[in-house]
Amino acid sequence: MLGIETSCDDTAAAVVRDGRNVLSSVATNQDAFHAKYGGIVPEIASRRHVALLSAVVEDALDRAGFEYADVDGIAVTRGPGLIGSLVVGVAAAKAMAFALRKPLYAVNHLHGHLFAAFLDRTETPPYPFLVLLVSGGHSQLVAVESSTAMRVLGRTHDDAAGEAYDKTARLLGLSYPGGPELDRLARAGNPRAYAFPRHRPATDSLDLSFSGLKTSVRYFLESDAGRDATASDVAASFQAAVVDVLMARVESAFGRARYNAAVLSGGVAANSELQGAFRSWGERSRVPVFIPPPKYCTDNAAMIAAAACHQGEAVRVDPLTLTADPNLPFSLWAS
Ligand code: KG4
Ligand code: ZN
Repeated sequence: MLGIETSCDDTAAAVVRDGRNVLSSVATNQDAFHAKYGGIVPEIASRRHVALLSAVVEDALDRAGFEYADVDGIAVTRGPGLIGSLVVGVAAAKAMAFALRKPLYAVNHLHGHLFAAFLDRTETPPYPFLVLLVSGGHSQLVAVESSTAMRVLGRTHDDAAGEAYDKTARLLGLSYPGGPELDRLARAGNPRAYAFPRHRPATDSLDLSFSGLKTSVRYFLESDAGRDATASDVAASFQAAVVDVLMARVESAFGRARYNAAVLSGGVAANSELQGAFRSWGERSRVPVFIPPPKYCTDNAAMIAAAACHQGEAVRVDPLTLTADPNLPFSLWAS
């Protein structure tokens, strides 16, 4: 399966066999083009996709030792994401599928993140499993019953976890994308230096919220105490609050239903503190835990190809009529 992913600012292509074995995975990030604006500029992202995509696809095929004619199918991210970015990948995949007479599969980007846990592993998560998906665009808990039956149990009301990291990193003067830098800075800090608020939902919902936390870091930094604070202590204390909130939701989801495994995915899954907390909770609770390596946690095309392999006919589409959908609902193909 040839996978193509252009939902945000990474131009990516990959070749995956049987939904598991990654024969190649190429992702060109555009950070250098967006850094000076402090965030992703959609118009720049789509233009970079146009400039890069053909070369990225050919590189992925070359590395796998394949020609276009060798692939069995083409998988592309249909949504959700930035419309201008999505249409580049969708148009390319439609043209390839039509010209090569290969089946075309339209994948929900978020389903892609769930299948990252199957890549390059001998053991894969047994159904049903729970996924904590935390990225720059999304934060949600998903119950996965099968490759096509999945349900969102809780989601963020405001910022995604990665967005909260990036915005807080900016307050601390770190450069974009600030998540990884904040992670590094926090290693030198004291996570108990400041007690930033942990969002608790009023009801017994599994929803999340990070805007209160981000605002309280901002007010703190503007206060007298904040002006004298050590940046690494602020970073570590912010991170401790995020990890506490996320782990509380995971524990609470496991308290309500039985799952055979827990998966951590999305860009923020690369966070060292969150990984540590997730693994030690798994050991304490005797739950098998799966955390894909960082290259499959952040946006990539191997996870899109894998999702198409696992979901098969349920996501097969007509190359003449497929359209990108920036607001694609999670459950489109799920029961
Ligand atoms: O999954 P991803 O590549 O893109 C989206 O689909 O959103 O996630 C990118 C996000 C960014 O917000 C980035 O700051 C965050 O993941 N991130 C991290 C770390 N590495 C990436 N956040 C905290 N700690 C990290 N080590
Ligand atoms: Zn993503």
